[in-house]
Amino acid sequence: MSHIVDKVCTYRHATSDDLDSIMLINDQFEHKWTIEKFQEVFTNEIPLILIYNEDEILIGYLVYFITLDEGRIINIAIDPQYQNKSYGRQLIHHALEEMYESNVHYALLDVKTDNLSAISLYTKMGFQILCRRIGYYAGDIEGDSYFMQLRL
Ligand SMILES: CC(C)(COP(=O)(O)OP(=O)(O)OC[C@H]1O[C@@H](n2cnc3c(N)ncnc32)[C@H](O)[C@@H]1OP(=O)(O)O)[C@@H](O)C(=O)NCCC(=O)NCCS
Repeated sequence: MSHIVDKVCTYRHATSDDLDSIMLINDQFEHKWTIEKFQEVFTNEIPLILIYNEDEILIGYLVYFITLDEGRIINIAIDPQYQNKSYGRQLIHHALEEMYESNVHYALLDVKTDNLSAISLYTKMGFQILCRRIGYYAGDIEGDSYFMQLRL
């Protein structure tokens, strides 16, 4: 487990030039986005944060969008070889700070009910389960989600 002092990470918003590097991480997961979905993010100028580690290696990304005072995290991934080293927590923390600066009051996300590591992380960060959404995932993976909320 990652009982770790914060590491020196750097963050920036991705552009379509980053697509190949993003796909290298994305393609390692069972539940992955299509390249078209990432292209939509760039077309619609939806924030996609990249996280680099202390060696300046791209290790993950997070996508969110804002509607009124709500910030919805719709994708987060850390490269499997860098997982469980507190990078995911730091990336979410950074995204929450960005949202707060944009006057967001609630962060929201859906997580698959069997994704225990992600649920554990979100809970430790203060997210609470609002409800279970039956059949939320339908496609390459199937199942229910927990709809979670954090008040900023
Ligand atoms: C979910 C994800 C982003 C978390 O990133 P991460 O960098 O691995 O997580 P962190 O190291 O910051 O967080 C570690 C915490 O996660 C939890 N955790 C991690 N692995 C765990 C495991 N195998 N079992 C239980 N809890 C686990 C613990 O609560 C841990 O807390 P601790 O630091 O107090 O021990 C990452 O695992 C990932 O990319 N998963 C694949 C994609 C995915 O599932 N995305 C989420 C979709 S909603």
